[in-house]
Amino acid sequence: MVELCEKPGVPGCVGDGEKHMKTYTIAVLPGDGIGPEVMKEALKVLQVISQAHPVSFKTEEGWIGGAAYDRFGTPLPVETLDLCRRSDAILLGSIGGPKWDNLPTHLRPELGGLLELRKSLCLFANLRPVILFDSVKELSPLAASRILKGVDLLTVRELSSDVYFGEPRHLDDNEGVDTMRYRSHEVQRISKVAFEIAQRRNKKVTSVDKSNVLCSSMLWRKVVTGTAKEYPGIALNHMYVDNAAMQLILNPGQFDVILTSNLFGDILSDESAALAGSLGMMPSASFGLDINLYEPAGGSAPDIAGKGTANPIAQVLSAAMMLEYSFNRPDLGKAIYNAVERALNEGFRTRDLCPAAQSYVTTFEMGDAICRFLNHT
Ligand code: IPM
Ligand code: MN
Repeated sequence: MVELCEKPGVPGCVGDGEKHMKTYTIAVLPGDGIGPEVMKEALKVLQVISQAHPVSFKTEEGWIGGAAYDRFGTPLPVETLDLCRRSDAILLGSIGGPKWDNLPTHLRPELGGLLELRKSLCLFANLRPVILFDSVKELSPLAASRILKGVDLLTVRELSSDVYFGEPRHLDDNEGVDTMRYRSHEVQRISKVAFEIAQRRNKKVTSVDKSNVLCSSMLWRKVVTGTAKEYPGIALNHMYVDNAAMQLILNPGQFDVILTSNLFGDILSDESAALAGSLGMMPSASFGLDINLYEPAGGSAPDIAGKGTANPIAQVLSAAMMLEYSFNRPDLGKAIYNAVERALNEGFRTRDLCPAAQSYVTTFEMGDAICRFLNHT
């Protein structure tokens, strides 16, 4: 959807409102924990982008997660869902925290909020790139080896099915039950996303499953293999998830695109984020049938919420992915990426990027630095 933004300075309109510029509407869902503070920095960055380029962003905030539960008694108010549906893209912070851990499952921020949102909008493909910034590579647990050289991988995680959503599912005092299920059309559609992305990268897909044990994985492997026939230029290999967890540490350079299911993707993407030095650096994009959502891959980090020490980079890079994939402006996404890199090169470090005793900058200062370098590039 494209419209003219003719009201400079209206609240919620990020950008200078020049006529004839493209205006994109963004549902902004800050959520819980560090979500609101890192979101502020991402919006600042979008503001700078809109001052320098003929685009503007009309943002509208919505409630989700524990914050929504506290206010409205539900982690996903219908108004939030409506807002998402009428926006061009969704920028999400993070959800959840110990405060809401004992709620009935359907009211918990994770299940009733985020998973419900993913399901309602059919967000089925989650892309999580590992981004290795040279100047923070020493933070990687693999820094001492030369293994890190050449790591450039992206996880394509199926997001709308698997044990996250399978029925039956129930919990009582004696039993907890979840159902791991995949249907062939679900596997086929996520495979296509992975193969198509691999075509634009290094043309290699590693499909990760547990097909030596699980029926859902046996189907997964069969469907992925069948779908691969439509992509003769792509090299496909299969790997069991236990081995993949090990290979990510032993030889991460062997991977280009990792195609995997919801649960395995959840686990492996955190592992691969750590390879790059910090989970605070990993953005993600979730593709749906009509609308896409962008969120950091890390959690709400309740232990550091409100302290101004959170790393805003994953949120800022999620906004960059939004510019690339939803607004078709990879150039602007790249400009953000370059500004982040520059800030890191110049020595700006949030606490997660600091070995003990080194001084660090606040969330706000990191956001400012990124904005400043954005103006200079
Ligand atoms: C993620 C998170 C979520 C998930 C939680 C918060 C429900 O860990 O996006 O990786 O498990 O998908
Ligand atoms: Mn996760």
